[in-house]
Amino acid sequence: MPEGPNYAYFQGEIVPIEDAKVSVMTHALHYGTGAFGGLRGYWNDEEEQLYVFRPLDHFKRVLDSGRLLLMDLPYTPESMLDILLNLLRKEAYRTNVYIRPLIYKSSAVIGVRLHNLEADFTMFALPFGSYIPNEEGSKVTFSSWRRIDDNAIPARGKITGAYANSALIKTDAALAGFDEALVLNEDGHIAEGSAENFFILRNGEVITPPIYSNILEGITRRSVIRLLCDEMGLRVVERPIDRTEVFLADEAFFCGTGVQIVAIAEIDHRPVGTGTLGPVVAQLRQLYFDLVRGKLARYKDWCVPVYPT
Ligand SMILES: Cc1ncc(COP(=O)(O)O)c(C=O)c1O
Repeated sequence: MPEGPNYAYFQGEIVPIEDAKVSVMTHALHYGTGAFGGLRGYWNDEEEQLYVFRPLDHFKRVLDSGRLLLMDLPYTPESMLDILLNLLRKEAYRTNVYIRPLIYKSSAVIGVRLHNLEADFTMFALPFGSYIPNEEGSKVTFSSWRRIDDNAIPARGKITGAYANSALIKTDAALAGFDEALVLNEDGHIAEGSAENFFILRNGEVITPPIYSNILEGITRRSVIRLLCDEMGLRVVERPIDRTEVFLADEAFFCGTGVQIVAIAEIDHRPVGTGTLGPVVAQLRQLYFDLVRGKLARYKDWCVPVYPT
């Protein structure tokens, strides 16, 4: 069997991936009127189990993004989870996977708007590894692009059209030889990376931009705040971060479902702290990778098993 995805949930059923096709007239394809999610499933070798991380939170955010786009979908987070479990069992994955739910304006019509349009839901899952190659020491730049503002396109929704902004940020950074970029808001404070949230450690305190800084309300961000506070005993402050504070940070990292936890070694060629993996990010990475594989008993309810136990 090919690696996958072999199947997709499409128009109400699980079908072979080659049959999951839309018309070139699909509204979302033209106007960016879709919203997506990104989840990971982690294979735990000792338990021979695949755990999906916080799926109900992810599906709730997908549906909330749909509300921002005036979508009325006959799904709940729970019904989306049922579909996902069936899909993953059919794929019979025994490896780490990435899961992509997508809701989209499916009407085949011309006209920029949100109202009087049909919407649909599709989902597939595929084996997946790292998103950024230098996970223990990425090289980062400040993007010359600005983060989309809540009054233009809400960054708290994972709206497909908004990802043109992320793509501009990511590609300019990659073409300039960097692993990733940090993007500023219109007011000049740091929002996040192209597809991940951002934290610094400075003078023993952990700081991350607040949700009103035009960031995606990350589920990994929320999980990491819990780990930093409850497991590592650190104080986490949510407040706007100035550009130059990053130059003075002792450690800095990105987090997100795709990137997981990625240490930042350099920003615009200046070392962050010692310019190597620092102790806080190293410990956090260890905790996170144990957590998502269902190895931390206190957080087991965040990890949903795919196969019968
Ligand atoms: C712009 C943006 N910020 C942050 C994140 C991290 O969010 P989460 O931790 O929920 O995956 C993502 C990835 O989904 C993203 O696309």
